[in-house]
Amino acid sequence: MSEKKSLFVLAGDGIGPEVMTEVYRLIEWLERRRDISFEVSEGLVGGAAIEAEGAPISDETMKKALASDAVLLGAVGGPKWDDLPFEQKPERGLLRLRKEMKLFANLRPAVVFPSLAEASTLKPEGVSGLDIMIVRELTGGVYFGTPRGIETLPNGERRGVNTQVYTTGEIQRVARVAFELAQKRSGRVCSADKANVMESGVLWREEVQRLHDEAFTDVELSHMYADNCAMQLVRNPRQFDVIVTDNLFGDILSDEAAMLTGSLGMLPSASLGAADENGRRLALYEPVHGSAPDIAGRGLANPLACILSFAMCLRYSFDMTEVADLIEAAVTEVLDGGLRTADIMQDGKARVSTRVMGEALTSTLNNMIN
Ligand code: IPM
Ligand code: MG
Repeated sequence: MSEKKSLFVLAGDGIGPEVMTEVYRLIEWLERRRDISFEVSEGLVGGAAIEAEGAPISDETMKKALASDAVLLGAVGGPKWDDLPFEQKPERGLLRLRKEMKLFANLRPAVVFPSLAEASTLKPEGVSGLDIMIVRELTGGVYFGTPRGIETLPNGERRGVNTQVYTTGEIQRVARVAFELAQKRSGRVCSADKANVMESGVLWREEVQRLHDEAFTDVELSHMYADNCAMQLVRNPRQFDVIVTDNLFGDILSDEAAMLTGSLGMLPSASLGAADENGRRLALYEPVHGSAPDIAGRGLANPLACILSFAMCLRYSFDMTEVADLIEAAVTEVLDGGLRTADIMQDGKARVSTRVMGEALTSTLNNMIN
């Protein structure tokens, strides 16, 4: 095999380290049974980094993230750090990674696994077979726009300010990712904005349409107001293939789409930067679930979202499509076999711990390759 790919692991807080342990189990299996190995190194992020290094991410860790082929992150945050000033909170570590690695395209698939259709709060007939890809802009918009801050007015009132701002380039590069993904899927993109209220939304709509007309006429493009999109997602989610939207709407719509699948604990994500002249893209992979401090350390967490994030890493960063397919098929099989962590527990199924789920995955993989 060619040179080993470097994977920088930031397990973070809460259930992050527990679910990452199960990814390590899988990595070890790949080494043993598939002769595939990676150059794995570890760092701290979020509350863990605050405790040990005094900041939610250190410059040293940032440097390593920028130099690695891919970053795999667990989760950040927890009640312990809720009262810290804004700039020192665990989440700032994640936001700094996204910003400095220039990870402008956040891919959040919402897929319903056949045996989990019953776990959705929607009727199974409405969600079975659901396969949506949300492409969220991740380094712009109101998350990073300036001016921002809280100021005290002369009359003693306080005023909080954030700025929603997008340039044509920022819109077009994320729209391009969405169109290219759609070409490999069902060929449909729905762009969500608030062009009826915001100028940045008007520009968003115009630029997405312009790029479409110039370069992606083979893709079917529709536009929707973001509030309608939120409504349509629960009314008839299967009408969507790829949804492209800005940072804030994407944050909200992707949580909503995640819930359609029955469990946040199942969903992976990829955050990608622009390809350089050698085709190398910086990338970060993370489960969509947060740090879930209420269940941390109790063996209750579902490791599958983190495992599927690692599979996305193999697919998008390491060009290991076959292995990614194998892992995804094994996840489906484990679920079909009736094992469930607490978050996806259903009547008549076997409730298992984080570790047993991870072990079941590698033993399923064993059976699949034999
Ligand atoms: C997400 C999270 C983050 C966000 C938080 C943790 C900063 O909600 O990745 O969706 O708002 O982007
Ligand atoms: Mg979110």
